[in-house]
Amino acid sequence: MNVYDSQLVAGLLQQCGYNETNDMSSADVIFLNTCAIREKAEETVHNRLESIQYLKKQKPHLIFGVLGCMAQNIKDDLLESKPYVDVILGPDSYRRIPEIINSRNKKNMHKVDTRLSKFEVYEDLFPSRQGGINAWIPISRGCDKFCTFCIVPFTRGRERSRSLDSIVREVEDAVSNGFIEISLLGQNVNSYRTEGGGFADLLKTISAVSGVKRIRFMSPHPQDMNENLLQVMSDHDNICNYIHLPLQAGSDRILNRMNRTYTRCEYLNLVKKTREYLPDCSISTDIIVGFPGETEEEYLETLQVMEEVIFDRAFMFKYSSRPGTKAAEYTDQINEAIKQNRLERLIKLQHSHTLKANLRHVGKILKVLVEKGSKKSSFQWTGRTEGNMGVIFNKSDEKIKDIVDILINDAKGISLFGSRISEKELMNEIN
Ligand code: 5AD
Ligand code: SF4
Repeated sequence: MNVYDSQLVAGLLQQCGYNETNDMSSADVIFLNTCAIREKAEETVHNRLESIQYLKKQKPHLIFGVLGCMAQNIKDDLLESKPYVDVILGPDSYRRIPEIINSRNKKNMHKVDTRLSKFEVYEDLFPSRQGGINAWIPISRGCDKFCTFCIVPFTRGRERSRSLDSIVREVEDAVSNGFIEISLLGQNVNSYRTEGGGFADLLKTISAVSGVKRIRFMSPHPQDMNENLLQVMSDHDNICNYIHLPLQAGSDRILNRMNRTYTRCEYLNLVKKTREYLPDCSISTDIIVGFPGETEEEYLETLQVMEEVIFDRAFMFKYSSRPGTKAAEYTDQINEAIKQNRLERLIKLQHSHTLKANLRHVGKILKVLVEKGSKKSSFQWTGRTEGNMGVIFNKSDEKIKDIVDILINDAKGISLFGSRISEKELMNEIN
C-alpha cells in the first residue's frame, strides 16, 4: 500500500513540474513515506530523518516532508523534536501536496495535515508507475477490524471502498501501459462493498478486463471469506490460485485477546473449504509470536496449526507494542528474549514447510509467468507460479510477460526448477 501511495505522490509532484530522481542530494523535494506497523519500521524512519537533516543543512531551500502512518501517529513529536521537517501529511491528505508545494515556495512555514477522512479513496488520481509486470491497485482504504495489536485503524482511519468504475478505469489504464498482472490491495479486501456489489463481484469484473493475465489480492480477512468468493476464484482462470490468509495465532485464547473474531477450528475449516474449491491453492499467512500473555503451550498451538495447514509461505513477526492500541496496555507483555526464541523456532519450521509445499509440485506442470532473466545464468529465466513461487528454467522462444507451461523437476530452498513443456507435449500429457 505504501509503494502505491508513494507512486500516487510522485504523480502529484509531476503535476507540479517535478521529476523523480534516485539521487537524494540532487532533490529539491524529499518526501519520506512511513510505516508505523512495528517499532522496527519506525526506527528505520528515525535513522533516515537524521541523514536528511544533514542534507537540509547543506541545502536550505530543500522541502522535506514526512508522509503516511508515522506522520499521522507521531506528528507532535516530529513538530517538537524535528524542526527541519517542513511538511507532515497523514495518509488521507496527499491531495494537498500541489497546493502546499506552491505556497511553500513563497513562504517558509510548517504545513501539517493529519485529518483522517471517511471518504478519501483517491478515486480519480492515478499513480506514476514505472513500467513493469505487476500493478498494485487499491480497492479500499482504512480498517474497522481493530485487532488489539494493530495501529492501522488509528493511522489509516475508517474503512471505505473505492467505486467499481474507478477501479476498472485504473486497471484498464495499467493494462494499456503494459502491466498484465493486477494485485488488488486493501487492509481487508474481502470486506469490499459498494452499490455495484461485493469483493467477489469486483473480482469477476476485473477478470473480464481484456489484457489482464493474472489477478492477485491481499489481504483477505478470514472472517469475511465466503464460498461465493472461492467459487468465483475457481471459475476464472486469470484469478491466481493463491490466498494470503493471516492466521496471527493458533490459540483460541490469544485469538480472542487479539480480537481476530475466529477460532482455530474455524480457521482450519476455512483452509479445508478453500482446498475443496481450489485443490492446488497456495496459501500463505501472517503470524505474530509473543503477543501479551502468550504461554509456551499457546505458542505451540500456533506451530500445530502450521503443521496441519503446511503454509506455502509465512510472514512472521515478533509482537511489537504500538502505543495507543489495546494490547499495548496489557500488563503481561512477553520479554524480548522469549519473543526472539519463539520467532526463530517458527521461522525454522516454516522453512521446512515451504520446502515441503514446493516438493509437492515436483512432477506437476505449472503455469509460469516469465518475469526476467535469471540472476545466475543468462540462459535461464525466472518466472512466477500462480502461488507466487519463483521458478527457474532454460530459455527457449518465450518472452517476458508470457505465461508458459513448466514441468517442475526440483525444489530447493524457496525456488522451484523446471523445464518448458510445448503445447504438443502438454496435449500428450493431458490425453
Ligand atoms: N506487532 C507485530 N506484528 C504486527 N502486525 C500488525 N501489527 C503488528 C504488531 N503490533 C502484522 C500482522 C499483520 C501484518 C501486516 O503485520 O501479522 O497481518
Ligand atoms: Fe490491522 Fe487487523 Fe485491520 Fe489487519 S484486520 S489492518 S491486522 S486491524
